[in-house]
Amino acid sequence: MTSAHGRFIQQVRLAPGVDDSRYPFSLPAVRQLAGSGTLVLPPGVTFLVGENGAGKSTLIEAIAVAAGFNPEGGSRNFRFATRATESELGDHLILAWGIRKPRTDFFLRAESYYNVASEIERLNVAGGRPLLPAYGGVSPHERSHGESFLDLATHRFGPAGLYLLDEPEAALSVQSCLALLARMHELVAQGSQFLVATHSPVLLALPGATIMEISDDGGLEQVEFDQALPVRLTREFLGAPGRFLKNLLGTGEIDDARSSWH
Ligand SMILES: Nc1ncnc2c1ncn2[C@@H]1O[C@H](COP(=O)(O)OP(=O)(O)O)[C@@H](O)[C@H]1O
Ligand SMILES: [Mg+2]
Repeated sequence: MTSAHGRFIQQVRLAPGVDDSRYPFSLPAVRQLAGSGTLVLPPGVTFLVGENGAGKSTLIEAIAVAAGFNPEGGSRNFRFATRATESELGDHLILAWGIRKPRTDFFLRAESYYNVASEIERLNVAGGRPLLPAYGGVSPHERSHGESFLDLATHRFGPAGLYLLDEPEAALSVQSCLALLARMHELVAQGSQFLVATHSPVLLALPGATIMEISDDGGLEQVEFDQALPVRLTREFLGAPGRFLKNLLGTGEIDDARSSWH
């Protein structure tokens, strides 16, 4: 595999001269981007991790807007809007593209997958070519959220694609996260690029992925799997749930059910 494979968006920069006293430019992660200059996206998979409110969705949505996706999510030819407070950040990002163009693409906003599902149904009726077969043949409204997302990754995603996913694990069981991990692995081997905001330690285990972590002060740094926040915290919790809860809840004793976890 050459380095050009699976690398469509190579760099993300913020145009100079923005007003950093207000959202979204006031977010520490965006200020850091303004200060440090460039976010480099390697080939294959880049995960974005960080606490709730760190700015992951804002960044992914802005990159999606700058890349020409609808901020609501979907393919780049989806054009519908139900969200009034769309981030302006995308208009101020400058993306450096590789020479190859993606063969297909998809932007998944966890919170608005329902709208994407409705749009798939609408296009299936209104368009010339039925769309549903590409999504597994069943309307996403007639599948569970998790099932329809796996349908999407299995049937709609394809080789040499560009995929921006915001918390794809939101609807997935651990088993389904593993299925998604395997599908991502396959798509990367077929020249796809992913940028994925996630809290899932399971997804983060994808071999060869780059993990970028947004720290409390907005710093964006590459971390190893073992150091990534969701991995460290989940491991600490599962290693000794009783002890962890004792510290968290400030209780001296743990009830019988939990004491068996020691
Ligand atoms: N439309 C908005 N106006 C003002 N602040 C916002 C808006 N959307 C998000 N924020 C704030 O920006 C911060 C980052 O949000 P978000 O990017 O959704 O974080 P994450 O996805 O990492 O959990 C949050 O503190 C949130 O309250
Ligand atoms: Mg988010």
